[in-house]
Amino acid sequence: MISRSDFPKDFLWGTATSAYQIEGAANEDGKGPSIWDVFSHTPGKIYMNQNADIATDHYHRYEEDIKIMKEIGLNAYRFSISWPRVMPDGRKKNEKGMNFYEKLVDKLLENEITPFITLYHWDYPYALYERGIDWTHPDSAFYFRDYAAAMFERLGDRVKLWTTHNEPWCAAFLGYYFGEHAPGHKDLQEAIYAAHNILRSHALALEAFREIVKDGKIGIVHMAIKVEPASDKEGDIRAAELADQAINGWFLQPLKEGKYPEDLRRLLESKGIKVPDEDLDIAAKPMDLFGVNYYTRLLIKSCPECELGYDIARGPLPKTEMGWEIYPQGLYDTLKRYYELFEIPLYITENGIACKDEIEGDAVNDECRIDYLKKHFEMALKALKGGVDLKGYFIWSLLDNFEWTHGYSKRFGIVYVDYKTLRRIPKKSAIWLKEFLKS
Ligand code: FCB
Repeated sequence: MISRSDFPKDFLWGTATSAYQIEGAANEDGKGPSIWDVFSHTPGKIYMNQNADIATDHYHRYEEDIKIMKEIGLNAYRFSISWPRVMPDGRKKNEKGMNFYEKLVDKLLENEITPFITLYHWDYPYALYERGIDWTHPDSAFYFRDYAAAMFERLGDRVKLWTTHNEPWCAAFLGYYFGEHAPGHKDLQEAIYAAHNILRSHALALEAFREIVKDGKIGIVHMAIKVEPASDKEGDIRAAELADQAINGWFLQPLKEGKYPEDLRRLLESKGIKVPDEDLDIAAKPMDLFGVNYYTRLLIKSCPECELGYDIARGPLPKTEMGWEIYPQGLYDTLKRYYELFEIPLYITENGIACKDEIEGDAVNDECRIDYLKKHFEMALKALKGGVDLKGYFIWSLLDNFEWTHGYSKRFGIVYVDYKTLRRIPKKSAIWLKEFLKS
């Protein structure tokens, strides 16, 4: 059995959350609406038409939540800032919103929990969107830079670990092509523009960071799905290569080399999609760290009638409540791949599982989560031993929360939330983690 002492002494052990999924207080203290507030209030978009107006009410209960982290023995916490909370119209500062994050950070530091901030976890200011300045518009990058700079100025003296974006693939493609996430558009051209401006905004925020937080570290968080062919047939192998370019390469290559993957670019252009290249070279600005969100792999098969020539195949491995295959080996492969590519410190910024959690009395016996985490911890250790400069591990998530289109139907927390009373109940996995962290 592995133990904490197998990992470096200064290794960060934390949980991760995001603003929209946990904060609630959707209209409080001057907060403006985000595209997610509007999307979740649109009938038919979310499971049972749920929304995150209240969510876990972390906005009012953050002290209790920090106490829980402390009690478990965690030494880091990854969270995101709601842009429209600190800038309701996307531009002008809202002191009350700023104050919330300031209090949160101070409380974390008081408890010796290292804050790790994500600037964008999908809750774009609706006011900008309404004016036509969403991610498809080049000016979005400048607004994002100004927002980022305001946060660096406000918190950069105390917070030294930052990332710009969480999973740009989701923001661009789930939001603008598949229509499953806010703002719910279904247009491949728009998704390509959105991805492009998100990359530009990342680069501009990095520039601001270098000016303002001289002793801090910054990077980006990527949805690091392991893409594998469904069979060893030539067509499936080819399809998997393309899928990997669409999901991973479309972001990794610009960040590394300032270029989009060639095959996919050509394929898109052959379909009349314009692939922008202005400013792309700036996306490859040096970063200090890279965030890996790893949950699963995707098996890909050839699909000539599909728009990009590939489709997802159903895999044979045991699955989580999300229907995602459990594939710990993929975490090791992924860490190796990203470390070889970027040669900078890596953090596992998200890893976790939705289980069928049921509360019995005051206990939630989530053996399924313990088993998942154990296996993934082992792979993280294997990567470390194999030379990967892995600096931290953030479990998704601290609390059960609003799982986007699935609403509250999927539970990822190591702490159970009773949504009727908002009471927090540490699951067995939290108790197991506490023991692990003591070991
Ligand atoms: C990731 C998201 C996070 C959460 C987990 C389950 O893709 O970053 O907000 O939804 O999946």
